Amino acid sequence: MSSKLLKPDSHLDLNSMKELPDSYAWSSSADHADGQNSSGSDLVPVINLEDPNVMMHVGHACKTWGVFYVMNHGVPMTVLDDMKASGRDVFSLPLEQKLRAARSADGVSGYGVAQISSFFPKLMWSEGLTIVGSPHEHAQKLWPQGHIHFCEVVEEYKKEMNKLANKIMWLVLGSLGITKGDIKWAGPTGELKEACPVLQLNSYPACPDPDRAMGLAAHTDSTLLTILHQNNTSGLQVRREGTGWVTVPPIRDALVVNVGDLLHILSNGLYSSVLHRAMVNRTQHRLSVAYLYGPPSNVRISPLSKLIDNSHPPLYRPVTWSEYLGTKAKHFNNALSFVRLCA
Ligand code: SIN
Ligand code: FE2
Repeated sequence: MSSKLLKPDSHLDLNSMKELPDSYAWSSSADHADGQNSSGSDLVPVINLEDPNVMMHVGHACKTWGVFYVMNHGVPMTVLDDMKASGRDVFSLPLEQKLRAARSADGVSGYGVAQISSFFPKLMWSEGLTIVGSPHEHAQKLWPQGHIHFCEVVEEYKKEMNKLANKIMWLVLGSLGITKGDIKWAGPTGELKEACPVLQLNSYPACPDPDRAMGLAAHTDSTLLTILHQNNTSGLQVRREGTGWVTVPPIRDALVVNVGDLLHILSNGLYSSVLHRAMVNRTQHRLSVAYLYGPPSNVRISPLSKLIDNSHPPLYRPVTWSEYLGTKAKHFNNALSFVRLCA
């Protein structure tokens, strides 16, 4: 999804603004008040990856929520903390310096406004850095000297996220009764080959009028899975049928996993991709780092044949990740219905 036309004031320095410009004013506070803190029986599941019944819990969370936290995920805290610190370093650079790494008009990779901006009439109170593959080129533009540290941190983070995404993906597949031989993009030892990894760093500066602003508008991810790491400021909300928007507050040491549209297709709709958005607040800066996990570019994702029989026909046609992104770029949150097979 690329934002083809940047709106005139889309490169304002949000960090120094004392008032919300009209172009960033989304709504009255009524819409925002819909966001409930997850409470009582409506808690986003927290899954301990060392629990003996972990596969069952993952399956249940995918089916009922499309989002869950993972604890005991095996990613060293230093790797998470270093990534957060490097994210803070990027976004605290002067705007002119960040703009040296600006995303090109048709590009995906680089610094800029939220990639989904072109679908909305208003601007979002956030800035992002999308890193597809190696961070080297962007890092060199951001810090002509001294970019090596950032590159090392990103590479280490991607390595750990890849391991974790593989582990979670096999738990998801196992919960659907899928074994190694059923997945054509699994290597001989079961490791899942992956598309060129994408990291999305998001920064949400403190906002003078948070009730009328939107950090990141509601969307589903086009991935198989997204692993989200947030700093200690709340902002993520997921849409829950029957409840409305539910806040997914940060839990120390836990990561958030979202079901994406490609897993929705692969599971023939058994596991629904989750609609989510990010809100902002008046006093605290929020940072999130999303690892976008998808299949290799030559693989067409279609409903798994083990899930198909006469009473469960395939609901979606086969698509590669980039074909699906093309559909998403045209139809955004309706993209799934455009790859749906007629009944
Ligand atoms: C995202 O959807 O990419 C980020 C959401 C968040 O910042 O919590
Ligand atoms: Fe997202």
